[in-house]
Amino acid sequence: MQWGSLSSVKFFDPLHFGSEIMWASQKARLGQLHLGRGAPQIFSRFKSLTLDTINKQVLAAEYAVRGRLPTRAAVIQQELTKGSKYPFNELVYCNIGNPQQVGQEPLTFNREVLALLTAPQLLSSAETLTQHGLISGEAVARAKEYIQHSAKVGAYTDSVGFQFIREEVCDFIKKRDGHRPDVKNVFLTNGASEGARLVMSALAAKHLGTVGFMAPIPQYPLYSALSTLMDCELVGYYLDEDKNWAVSLPALTAAYEDAVKKGIVVRALVVINPGNPSGNNLSAETLRDVVQFAKEKNLVLIADEVYQENILTKHPFKSMSSIMHELNLDLEVVSLHSLSKGFLGECGVRGGYCIFENFDPEIMQQFVKLKSIELCSNTVGQLSVVLMVRPPVADAAALYAKEKKDVLDSLRQKAEILRETLSALEGISLPEIGGAMYAFPQIKLPQAAIQEAAAHGVAPDEFYCMQALENTGLVVVPGSGFRQVEGTFHFRTTFLPTLDKMQRAMKSFAAFHNDFMKRYS
Ligand SMILES: Cc1ncc(COP(=O)(O)O)c(C=O)c1O
Repeated sequence: MQWGSLSSVKFFDPLHFGSEIMWASQKARLGQLHLGRGAPQIFSRFKSLTLDTINKQVLAAEYAVRGRLPTRAAVIQQELTKGSKYPFNELVYCNIGNPQQVGQEPLTFNREVLALLTAPQLLSSAETLTQHGLISGEAVARAKEYIQHSAKVGAYTDSVGFQFIREEVCDFIKKRDGHRPDVKNVFLTNGASEGARLVMSALAAKHLGTVGFMAPIPQYPLYSALSTLMDCELVGYYLDEDKNWAVSLPALTAAYEDAVKKGIVVRALVVINPGNPSGNNLSAETLRDVVQFAKEKNLVLIADEVYQENILTKHPFKSMSSIMHELNLDLEVVSLHSLSKGFLGECGVRGGYCIFENFDPEIMQQFVKLKSIELCSNTVGQLSVVLMVRPPVADAAALYAKEKKDVLDSLRQKAEILRETLSALEGISLPEIGGAMYAFPQIKLPQAAIQEAAAHGVAPDEFYCMQALENTGLVVVPGSGFRQVEGTFHFRTTFLPTLDKMQRAMKSFAAFHNDFMKRYS
């Protein structure tokens, strides 16, 4: 192709000539195309990165939690600020598990230590600060201890994180589960999401064929989005809604066998416990099935346990790693934890850890290499992890315990209000909320509503959630964003906003729902 033939396109929409332009601009970049005078201006009118030239996996990836509903909510928020009239005065954000955005306060002790570590010059006035009751003696002692470990927030750390924090994570696991992981297999991450990406990117071995990751349906869309980005298949296994969204062995087997029949190389099993969006807390018996299944099929188990402190069932949280040890299996497990949930809710700090067990030492070296490509996780996140795994025990302990209890009690109370309201509504069914920060109720939508949604070109549950937003100001996420059994409709709601907001939101939501059902029945 010569420049002459390209000149004819200069007044046309470049998208109509996408492939020609792409070919030419690629060549130009490589210096293989001889351009005449004036050509650079013509090229500079076109973007190098367009929807035609972007990695197609980026286009295909979806993340419903930040989808159309919150986008519309943002517009409504702006209009409310300008004085526009809606049937409500404020929006209630139940669409995302982001506790501090909707009113939760950070824990005093944790922030005191972080304040001293991020502004170490304050330590020279520590005595005055403690005398005036501005900071606890224990926070000062802790900050000094960490500074002795060279905890400088402005410097890169080891790629896998501060060694002294990783040791503390091991002590925490020993106390929780009775076994102590090997410190070299503990990585500090920028949140649990990074841990999932790290392990999935190593497993996405295209040379083996089409790689599949098993993940629950409904699932937290991180896993579907990462599978798509990595050009892999999400092999969904259905949770059993009639059994409080439990994982069932027949569902695991069916999904696995179906994938294998399609020629998919299934490499990992993701289990989210407690569950998002399902809000379940799996029993030890179910977890035994999960671990045994993963071992039998030679899968890596990705144990997403970011909600381990958010338990609403009578039975306690049990880690998948502890079950694996109980069963004496040498399964490859990656356990993920995070600052973002529990009673800390430090989502924006971006901290977490992942623990690898039973991986080949050569593979561990590859994980270390992967982690080192981006140098290290952020240091404030790392230091917050040590505060998560080692709570205060001296003069800061009482306030810490009170703040923790207040957050967890309030969550329990709000979950109860949500459960009471929703389960009393005709056309809504809601299994027990066993953990995490979510409920995932099913709505039996009338046929007329389904037809109207189709006329608007949206999924029926999205139509319902959008109507709820426009009428009540409640922001929730349609079930289709998490996947669901074909023909069923759900939505996910958190119970994080303040108690009075939740009470008001539930009242107006109940009125909206009854009206909606009447209108379309
Ligand atoms: C199940 C699950 N895993 C992981 C994450 C992401 O956690 P992080 O903020 O630590 O990246 C979330 C966030 O909502 C989640 O619900």
